[in-house]
Amino acid sequence: MRNFTNQNREDFITRGAQEEKVFLEMMRIIYKLSEYRDYKTYEHTMRVGWLSARLADSLNMDKEFVLALEYAAPLHDIGKIGIPDSIILKPGKLSEQEFEVMKKHTIYGYELLKNSSTHVMKMAAEIALNHHERWNGSGYPRGLKEEQIPVSAQIVGVVDSFDAMVTDRPYKDAVSLEEAFKEIQINSGILYSPRVVEEFLRHKSEVAKYYTDIHGVVNNQVLGRR
Ligand SMILES: [Fe+2]
Ligand SMILES: [Fe+2]
Repeated sequence: MRNFTNQNREDFITRGAQEEKVFLEMMRIIYKLSEYRDYKTYEHTMRVGWLSARLADSLNMDKEFVLALEYAAPLHDIGKIGIPDSIILKPGKLSEQEFEVMKKHTIYGYELLKNSSTHVMKMAAEIALNHHERWNGSGYPRGLKEEQIPVSAQIVGVVDSFDAMVTDRPYKDAVSLEEAFKEIQINSGILYSPRVVEEFLRHKSEVAKYYTDIHGVVNNQVLGRR
């Protein structure tokens, strides 16, 4: 067996433009892993990342924030890795006890990501922990309210909910884009940040186009789903 030195390894990892490619490929694999059990593809995570970043951009967040959000938002549900299949894949409503277990995916995700040193991963930890917090304090895990909820999680909270509404899940069928927009609007200032909802709805036609054209959500059917 050959004995590789640390220098060998370093040369291998940093060879040419490979470094960035390895990073991106690793991120895609992690996104895929984080959704592997409730989705066959990782399209949900990618849509949440892409749309959250576009929304942050139109909310005039700075460029650093927007770029970090695009990579960090897809990791919001990574803590689901710690939730049993009997709960993740359960068709129909969760019992109260099961829901209590499900809520823990926010903490598990945070625990996984919290000791990272990079800006992107720190933001990912913040989003994992807070993406189910709701504007009126009815969310979890801590029941944060209004601006106590980090902006990154306010944005992901809207996009993630919208995407969940328009796609089939083990426990429910998809609703139409129009119905989902209405649901988001009704809950502005109740579940979701009014500022984020206002901006999201201002781009309604672009969001609808993104779903129908690019990701194949046509007549409530998500193409490529298992
Ligand atoms: Fe979640
Ligand atoms: Fe999600």
